[in-house]
Amino acid sequence: MSDKITVPEHIGIIMDGNGRWAEERGLPRKDGHTRGMINMISLAAAAFDRGAKSVTCYSMSKENLRRSPEEVGHILSLVLEYFEPFLKVFGEKRIAAKFVGSLELLPEEIRASLKRTESILSEFEGLGRTIYVAIAYGSRAEIVRAVNEAVRRGEEVTEEGFLDLLGLPLNLDLVIRTGGESRLSNFFLYQASYAELYFSDKYFPDFGEAELDEALRWFSGRSRRYGLLKKG
Ligand code: FPP
Repeated sequence: MSDKITVPEHIGIIMDGNGRWAEERGLPRKDGHTRGMINMISLAAAAFDRGAKSVTCYSMSKENLRRSPEEVGHILSLVLEYFEPFLKVFGEKRIAAKFVGSLELLPEEIRASLKRTESILSEFEGLGRTIYVAIAYGSRAEIVRAVNEAVRRGEEVTEEGFLDLLGLPLNLDLVIRTGGESRLSNFFLYQASYAELYFSDKYFPDFGEAELDEALRWFSGRSRRYGLLKKG
């Protein structure tokens, strides 16, 4: 295998294992989510430094909204608590931000904060690098919404045209899931159709730059054929 690293243009990260990370240390689960938030910012920044154009992080599924109000409230409060560090890190790197999901389900204060973040970083739209954060997100809901939009327009859609109707109109090249489970859990099913899937046993707060580099080395060794035959 060659040592050359091919950095995927679009990396998705299913950030699982925060709760277990905390429980194994005798800490409340919310501490795991706080560590997860800090890691999300630094790991996404590291992925951009390595050449990724888009990074999509799964911060909360629609289903996660049914967890205890205390846990949901804490995860959402991280949006407010880490508003400044998020802007600082991605602003300095000239990276735009987009939040994807059923945002109408979130409290007004959180929605306003997400909107402000998008708006402040919107000056970097068009430079080709964006962090997407999926929140109150579910892929089936996203697809159903897009189908209804197509029906409303009364036009037949193509595969590419349908992608444009989705909240995240971009194919994924690599999906990393931490926390030891090997499933997609309703994470961008349409966009991940041809993504390489990388599963790590590490809990998300322990998945740092070294682990990212390991995933990129693994990705570089994959042969992506999109249903065609192998060359050579
Ligand atoms: C899954 O771990 C993780 C979550 C449900 C929350 C992830 C949130 C962050 C990384 C912080 C970023 C937050 C925002 C709002 C941007 P789990 O709790 O299911 O872990 P477990 O499987 O070990 O219980």
